[in-house]
Amino acid sequence: MKTIFSGIQPSGVITLGNYIGAMKQFVELQDDYNCYFCIVDQHAITVPQDRLALRKNIRSLAAFYLAVGIDPNKSTLFIQSEVPAHAQAGWILQCIAYIGELERMTQFKDKSAGKEAVSAGLLTYPPLMAADILLYSTDIVPVGEDQKQHIELTRDLAERFNKRYGDIFTIPEARIPKIGARIMSLTDPTKKMSKSDPNQKSYITLLDDAKTIEKKVKSAVTDSEGVIRYDKENKPGVSNLLTIYSILANEPIEQLEERYAGKGYGEFKADVAEVIINTLTPIQEKYYELMESTTLDDILDEGAEKANRVASKMLKKMENAIGLGRKRR
Ligand code: TYM
Repeated sequence: MKTIFSGIQPSGVITLGNYIGAMKQFVELQDDYNCYFCIVDQHAITVPQDRLALRKNIRSLAAFYLAVGIDPNKSTLFIQSEVPAHAQAGWILQCIAYIGELERMTQFKDKSAGKEAVSAGLLTYPPLMAADILLYSTDIVPVGEDQKQHIELTRDLAERFNKRYGDIFTIPEARIPKIGARIMSLTDPTKKMSKSDPNQKSYITLLDDAKTIEKKVKSAVTDSEGVIRYDKENKPGVSNLLTIYSILANEPIEQLEERYAGKGYGEFKADVAEVIINTLTPIQEKYYELMESTTLDDILDEGAEKANRVASKMLKKMENAIGLGRKRR
């Protein structure tokens, strides 16, 4: 069975973009792969975080993973900081990475733009992400479009390490969905839907209630043509709503275009909102149930134990290949 690894940052709300681009794929893949899903809390502290909010977001993300359908009997769910090999392997991979290639990462450029003080961790984030992936001999990394560059760097680092120190790492591949890999902002459909957007109307969170979803979709930016047609270049707003609808209702975009031929944006938007509400309501019910229960801690304890077993073996292999420490007796 091939191995899958993916992670999500517990840095605030979880958006519909995270769900469509990443989480939905995770659920579909867990029957056919050996899956590891991680709450990457060490990645979240590359930018300042409030201590209590971070703790809450970690727990909340764990509940979301389970609420969307991750089954702990099939997949390993764990918190990154509870598996120390990630930071240890991350350090080794930082020593393999070049500053120039890290400075070229678009996420680093975006997050550091215009800031006076930028943490060193923001720059060295990709080698930690590479460690996450490589520690589990991962074959496939399901992610949204914005993580493609990081996976390419992971492959480069793995190949560089293998060449220098011997074939240890599996070279992973990104798995990016054909549609829905980049859900756009509702207020500016030329930008990615992002939890760090200061305008809350630009994204839908997995905990938005029906009224909020209706309002946000109703005010989503479209165009003045009045035709429901997929055209990413000229009609980014309508195309984004069609994408969301198509994925959540599991209906091809062409079929939706036919159904809404001659109809107005008002009716279309009301239906998009309904599809989103129908998807999120059962997730929210499970989420609130899980947040109240103790099963969450049991699952995370078990996940950390299993991840620790696998990751510490690979870390030993890495250290041995490089010559760190002493030869084991
Ligand atoms: P993060 O936490 O920003 O996002 C989690 C996942 O959601 C996807 N995503 C989107 N997909 C479609 N449309 C959007 N608007 C959208 N916004 C976010 C992301 O592509 C991602 O798959 N660096 C990663 C976390 C990470 C990781 C890893 C991922 C750390 N280690 C190892 C995979 C493997 C990140 O910041 O994702």
